[in-house]
Amino acid sequence: MIDVRVFDTAEGVAVAAADAVVALVRRKPDTVLGLATGSTPLGTYDQLAERRRREGISFTRVRGFLLDEYVGLAPDHPERYRNVILRDLAARVGMPVENLRAPRVDEPDLAAACAEYEAEIARAGGVDLQILGLGTDGHIAFNMPGSELDSRTRLTTLTDQTVRDNARFFDGDEGQVPREVLTQGLATIMEAREILLLVTGERKAAALAELLEGTVTPERPGSVLHAHPRTTVLADRAAAPPVGVASTW
Ligand code: F6R
Repeated sequence: MIDVRVFDTAEGVAVAAADAVVALVRRKPDTVLGLATGSTPLGTYDQLAERRRREGISFTRVRGFLLDEYVGLAPDHPERYRNVILRDLAARVGMPVENLRAPRVDEPDLAAACAEYEAEIARAGGVDLQILGLGTDGHIAFNMPGSELDSRTRLTTLTDQTVRDNARFFDGDEGQVPREVLTQGLATIMEAREILLLVTGERKAAALAELLEGTVTPERPGSVLHAHPRTTVLADRAAAPPVGVASTW
């Protein structure tokens, strides 16, 4: 079952997501967060920085696991997702760098790095709250259409559509977007105790409508969330299907 909450603006989505994170961190100061990158969660990360400034909430014991990471970018590349999260979230909320984990894409044995990432998540006690974005082709993390529903952290290849979508982070140059990535699998994500799927903007409306109305199928990786016990979609009006303010699918 998926709860859907619709807000007038993307800012409303960001505030609601930040509210959920702050409430959890207050309750459990060593919360384990699952962190998405891309443009959608940036407003939420802005809100968290603001809440920390205003309310002094401490993130020093919060731990974070990234969903995915590009393979082949230099360790100091600004678009390495680990660098993005350090810059856009951790540095601003005071989350220590050693509390942050990303799949280790520089290891010679990537399969071993993926297995170790799964083990690290398990050793941390699992993810308490996973923040997700949605791809225009329905992907979550970098689980492209066709991903196995029982997939775990692994090496995979981006679709042409995702490469095109992400070129905006690489000076609009598709040639600079790495094709290969390490990503948490769908089964890995499903083990998070709570999931927030953030969806904003008209260009996501079709993918969200398909996710919500469709059955669970690898062709729409986000549809796997129908089988999760505690998933909430936070959508702005531009992305949401034309229904009431709050609904359950
Ligand atoms: C990134 C990730 C991706 C993005 C998705 C949407 O860590 O996991 O699934 O959430 O590609 O990206 P944006 O938010 O840039 O539209």
